[in-house]
Amino acid sequence: MADEARDEQDSGNRPLPQPRFVPLPDYRRLPPEQMLARAQAFCEQMQRRRTTRQFSTDPVPRRLIELAVQAAGTAPSGAHRQPWRFVAIDEPQLKQQLRDAAEHEERLFYAERITDEWREALHPLGTDHVKAHMTDAPWLVVLFAEKYGLRPDGSQRKNYYVDESVGIAAGIFITAIHDMGLVTLPHTPSPMGFLRDILGRGKNEKAVLVLPVGYPRDDARVPDLQRLPLDQILQWNAPDPTTGETA
Ligand SMILES: Cc1cc2nc3c(=O)[nH]c(=O)nc-3n(C[C@H](O)[C@H](O)[C@H](O)COP(=O)(O)O)c2cc1C
Repeated sequence: MADEARDEQDSGNRPLPQPRFVPLPDYRRLPPEQMLARAQAFCEQMQRRRTTRQFSTDPVPRRLIELAVQAAGTAPSGAHRQPWRFVAIDEPQLKQQLRDAAEHEERLFYAERITDEWREALHPLGTDHVKAHMTDAPWLVVLFAEKYGLRPDGSQRKNYYVDESVGIAAGIFITAIHDMGLVTLPHTPSPMGFLRDILGRGKNEKAVLVLPVGYPRDDARVPDLQRLPLDQILQWNAPDPTTGETA
């Protein structure tokens, strides 16, 4: 957070109030066996998460969406700016309007904008411009990143590490949805400007993800993907300077 601290200082040498601290709330040190059991159970639960593209139209209570967003709002953020904003949509007409706009962009994307390399990368997923999930899923949650804050006088307040912070919030949202037994799909129609316009968000926000939420359709299928094994995503310490090898 060194850069963050430097940016704060750059804003001038105004006298600042004394920061306030409270005891770490509700912290409970767990016995090692319990930690391991919980860690294993959580890891197994996360292994079962899959992006699902076929949604049932069965309704999902609004309260579950609220709880997932509240969980996502616990994400850490640069300088605690909390630069995430969620818009939850269940009105059928609005979902249809968003689907029409997304499919317009996606049709152009798949026909003209996509590069050969990108087409190849997407091929195993079997995606195309048809975005039925946007009207089938009972909820569409659109995640916006607040690029900068606005003070009451209209001046801009800098946010820090916006992409990282919003990415972490998205991860917690996706985890919360999975943990409550629902499915979602991080969808990135390209470009996404229509989301801000239709949903009436400010110019200081940019749409990051469309997250349909619901139950999977009975016949839902997912691509046969493999996750990288642990030794390809985790290095312990630094390579040995003489051999270049890691433990
Ligand atoms: C930032 C981001 C953007 C994505 N955009 C799309 C998308 O536009 N359409 C889509 O069908 N899936 C999209 N996905 C889902 C990925 O294709 C999916 O997570 C990946 O294939 C791995 O599958 P899994 O989530 O089931 O493990 C996106 C995922 C992320 C994290």
